[in-house]
Amino acid sequence: MGICCHCNMGYDICDDIFLLDGIIRIVMSIEVKNLIKTFDEKKVIDDISFKVEDGETLAIVGFSGSGKSTVLKLICGLIEKDSGEIITSEGDIAMVFQYSALFDSLNVAENIAFALRERKDLRKKYTEKELAQIVSSKLSLVGLKGIENKFPSELSGGMQKRVSFARAIVTEPNTILYDEPTAGLDPISSTLIEDYIVRLKEETHAASIVVTHQMSTITRTADKVLMLYEGKSVFEGTPQELLRMENEYTRQFVTASLEGPMKIMA
Ligand SMILES: Nc1ncnc2c1ncn2[C@@H]1O[C@H](COP(=O)(O)OP(=O)(O)OP(=O)(O)O)[C@@H](O)[C@H]1O
Ligand SMILES: [Mg+2]
Repeated sequence: MGICCHCNMGYDICDDIFLLDGIIRIVMSIEVKNLIKTFDEKKVIDDISFKVEDGETLAIVGFSGSGKSTVLKLICGLIEKDSGEIITSEGDIAMVFQYSALFDSLNVAENIAFALRERKDLRKKYTEKELAQIVSSKLSLVGLKGIENKFPSELSGGMQKRVSFARAIVTEPNTILYDEPTAGLDPISSTLIEDYIVRLKEETHAASIVVTHQMSTITRTADKVLMLYEGKSVFEGTPQELLRMENEYTRQFVTASLEGPMKIMA
């Protein structure tokens, strides 16, 4: 117990290292009812309810600190809820964390193959040659062919993010909770990741959730959108309805305006 070795935020969750970018359960639908979570007497998730059906992708949007990452961590069980219900069908679920947090002392190939080498149910399943092939195919998928021997410190932030994405998908999870998978990426790298999210959805028909600030990620990957502000739901609808800006929250979010009901903490 202690500092989470992935997100470095001091959660008491990472005594099992395979929670890092690893499969926890395969989930085909996700329902959240009246979810409440308090940190230091502050309600950071305040009575949120939503349902993501089989084959649907929900985008969770909202300004910084609105509770998006906390919702994902509650769903995959990394933190405990105070009250409410989280109903998921049985199976594996994986999470792509907001920050890359690659292992500095491992090269790119070792970082990506980590779960395949170390997870009890997967180790011994692949030869070294097969592992190298899997690593190389995942790197191609994120547009980073041939960087297997580089160390994280030799990569740009965007490259680290894409390697971390490759690491998350190496076990081919059916369902992923994505925490800002395209933040900080250039438009072409973002498109690669967005295409992967859509392909995975088409192949598996599983439910998934993408936390994002990026309009392209919302419009290209999501079937519906939930907007949070101070832990409360302030909009639920389709990406098209979000873009129609019919309420003061969606208008402020889409136009990225300082004027509106949502205030950013200074
Ligand atoms: N482990 C924790 N202990 C105390 N407070 C926390 C913890 N995790 C999150 N919080 C608080 O909960 C609130 C929501 O945080 P969260 O990380 O969910 O926001 P977010 O919407 O993902 O923001 P961002 O867009 O900046 O990633 C913030 O006020 C944050 O300080
Ligand atoms: Mg976050």
